[in-house]
Amino acid sequence: MLLAELRGKIENKQAVLGVIGLGYVGLPVAAAFARAGFRVIGGDIRAERVALINAGRSPIEGDEPGLAELLAEVTAAGRLRATTDYNELKPADAVLINVETPVDDDHRPRYAALKAACRALGPVLKDGALVIVESTIAPGTIDTIVRPLLEECTGRVTNDGFYLGACPERVMPGRLLSHLRAMSRVCGGSTPETAETMVALYRHVVEAELDVADPVTTELVKTAENAYRDVQIAFANEVALICEVVGADVWRVRELVNKVPSRHMHLPGAGVGGHCIPKDPWLLAHGAAGKAPVRLIPQARLVNDSMPMHVADLTLAALQAAGVNPGQARVLVLGYAYLENSDDSRNSPSQALVAQLGGRVQEVRIHDPWVPGYQGELLTLAAGCDAAVVMVAHQAYRQLHLPELKAMLRTPVLIDGRHVFERSQAEAAGLLYRCVGQGNNRA
Ligand SMILES: NC(=O)c1ccc[n+]([C@@H]2O[C@H](COP(=O)([O-])OP(=O)(O)OC[C@H]3O[C@@H](n4cnc5c(N)ncnc54)[C@H](O)[C@@H]3O)[C@@H](O)[C@H]2O)c1
Repeated sequence: MLLAELRGKIENKQAVLGVIGLGYVGLPVAAAFARAGFRVIGGDIRAERVALINAGRSPIEGDEPGLAELLAEVTAAGRLRATTDYNELKPADAVLINVETPVDDDHRPRYAALKAACRALGPVLKDGALVIVESTIAPGTIDTIVRPLLEECTGRVTNDGFYLGACPERVMPGRLLSHLRAMSRVCGGSTPETAETMVALYRHVVEAELDVADPVTTELVKTAENAYRDVQIAFANEVALICEVVGADVWRVRELVNKVPSRHMHLPGAGVGGHCIPKDPWLLAHGAAGKAPVRLIPQARLVNDSMPMHVADLTLAALQAAGVNPGQARVLVLGYAYLENSDDSRNSPSQALVAQLGGRVQEVRIHDPWVPGYQGELLTLAAGCDAAVVMVAHQAYRQLHLPELKAMLRTPVLIDGRHVFERSQAEAAGLLYRCVGQGNNRA
């Protein structure tokens, strides 16, 4: 199939689409294209997830507006079908790859899922199909890993036997469908014509701007935009730590800094988590391949990774200030997801906090309204605890009635890692209050 023919099929929605990886990103992508009128075949290796999707049920918990309804609609209409069998992807004219791309403990990309997907796809890939990697990948990955692997597994050549590009997703849990529609995207094609064909495809689901680029520029943009965020958060966290020792309030400082035009100081807090921000900076750094100095990005990672430890220190100091021996204390951690109103707990700062507190306090209890296993009744869990530590700004915590919390705690200590509460509000409820970035933490 020639690219012009494929573009025609895409424009009139006759193209069959494959989506490999039906996780936080791939599932809404598959559902959105199905809603736009395409026939979509979704592939995943997790049989239970595939069964759930085919039953019209979303495996993604959390407050995800519209996703469950859309999934029920497109599966009932027969426009989206999930499978674990790559043979079913044979009719796909375009295949979007959305598998996970984590980093190892040594911060190097772990492409096991990406490589497995390419190896399994190669033998079934239709002649002249378009393959688009939506997963976030280090600069150079399309050219040095994906392209050679697909050429080997298809026995064909890029831009002849198949077409190739990268179009990283910019979605975020909690806003998956709306971001998919409203965020601009970079369509990085291995030729300008491929990039334009990608634009024709994404135009069906994206209302925002679609920019064209080459794959390496596209890979750089995605990893740089998340590294930018990580560095900015690390800056805010460093200012927060300075505020604590000089006796100032970072939340007020930030507000005033941001009155200067073009200053956008980010929010400090208890740490950074999820499947993107903690690893995408490492993917960007990996692109330098040791040939360019990379100093700032790893330092920012260190700062942000240290924040749960700082919250642990604040907690232990507050317990001591309240006259409680930490070794005999029960601590309630509020929030286990990495993001407010989400069930996604991958790399969550709370995991690091719980690890830090383990062995240093008698008992750690965990509550999260969205994460399975931790959805107990908050006030029941608070009963007999010596401190509550807010790690996630879930709506349920913003609505917490502090006098009720105080009444359940054995010792009235509240640690706020996200500035969910005002100090005056907590102190009026009779709580000993400590907040990241506030100078009177050690008083
Ligand atoms: N989660 C986010 O908010 C977000 C946002 C933007 C970009 N991204 C990027 O999107 C990509 C996917 O992230 P995610 O959060 O959706 O991950 P995820 O873990 O939720 O989903 C990945 C899915 O791929 C499946 N999979 C793994 N190997 C497979 C294979 N060989 N064949 C078929 N399916 C396979 C897994 O079973 C899983 O369901 C990553 O590169 C991530 O960095 C994520």
